[in-house]
Amino acid sequence: MKCRKCGGKAVVNLREHRLSLCKGCYIPWFVDYTEKTIKKFRMIDRGDRVLVAVSGGKDSLALWDVLNELGYETFGLYIHLGIDYDGYSDVSLQKSKQFAERIGRELVIVDVEKEVGAGIPELRGITRRPVCSVCGMTKRYYMNRIAMELGASVLATGHNLDDEVSQLLGNVLNWNMDYLIQQSPVLPAKEEGLKKKVKPFCYFTEKQTLLYTLLRNIDYVEMECPFSVGATSIFNKDILNQLEHRSPGIKRRFYDGFLNNKHLFLKDVVNAISLKNCSNCGMPTVNEVCSFCKTRERVRSVVQ
Ligand code: AMP
Ligand code: FES
Ligand code: ZN
Repeated sequence: MKCRKCGGKAVVNLREHRLSLCKGCYIPWFVDYTEKTIKKFRMIDRGDRVLVAVSGGKDSLALWDVLNELGYETFGLYIHLGIDYDGYSDVSLQKSKQFAERIGRELVIVDVEKEVGAGIPELRGITRRPVCSVCGMTKRYYMNRIAMELGASVLATGHNLDDEVSQLLGNVLNWNMDYLIQQSPVLPAKEEGLKKKVKPFCYFTEKQTLLYTLLRNIDYVEMECPFSVGATSIFNKDILNQLEHRSPGIKRRFYDGFLNNKHLFLKDVVNAISLKNCSNCGMPTVNEVCSFCKTRERVRSVVQ
């Protein structure tokens, strides 16, 4: 198998792009393709200050690396979730710090245990909600809040095509209209205090971001979150990979088809959502007090 760009020995065959590439040509292709995605969805402009949410995993560190290579002004945010199994949160923090040093960029760290009075494992018990839902809510809250407080104009996350299509499949199977409307590679800022959110890796598969990370020698946390074992999202990813194997490009077609057509069936839902500001913390919410403040209050009442 030969590289389509230089004729050298190819290390990867991107079936859905009908493209084989060697090591040397893969990195520039990956960086260019990210830039194309950024332009296609008008994600980031020159002059933007981008907050990159990093988990210490391959996708978000690769994203920070690429945005940096493309010359965007970036800084990172790591949210320490207080998950101690095998030192998961500490190891992830260390990988994120190490990478920030490597590229010479600032990393902001939020410690959930210190801020809320309990880490994610304890919050699960206190709120009696599924752990990933409390965790997702907490992460979204801090990502937006830190972006607001530190004057970022865009918040970028490392979600890849596999994350996007598995979430889409889950939402479609349950016809969860509220979540479907929120699913997009770019969500605009809202004046009630929501920052613009972008996912520049939405067209890369997990394997493609992994290959970039390996070729660039980026040291990332290989452990998965201990709470993700047996998660439906992982099962859905597996099913989608089986479909992809049979019909190369199906994940991309599923995703693009949704993005191109969602306005046809989600129009009324978009108009129905109205945001106000939390009476406690001022962050945007659909209720009087936001879910994060309600959770924090619950922790206070239990701990005191
Ligand atoms: P996940 O929800 O774990 O699939 O992660 C999706 C994206 O959210 C990652 O690519 C990161 O950009 C961001 N993210 C996940 N966990 C954290 C964290 N602890 N701190 C900051 N950003 C995170
Ligand atoms: Fe939040 Fe696993 S990272 S529950
Ligand atoms: Zn609040």
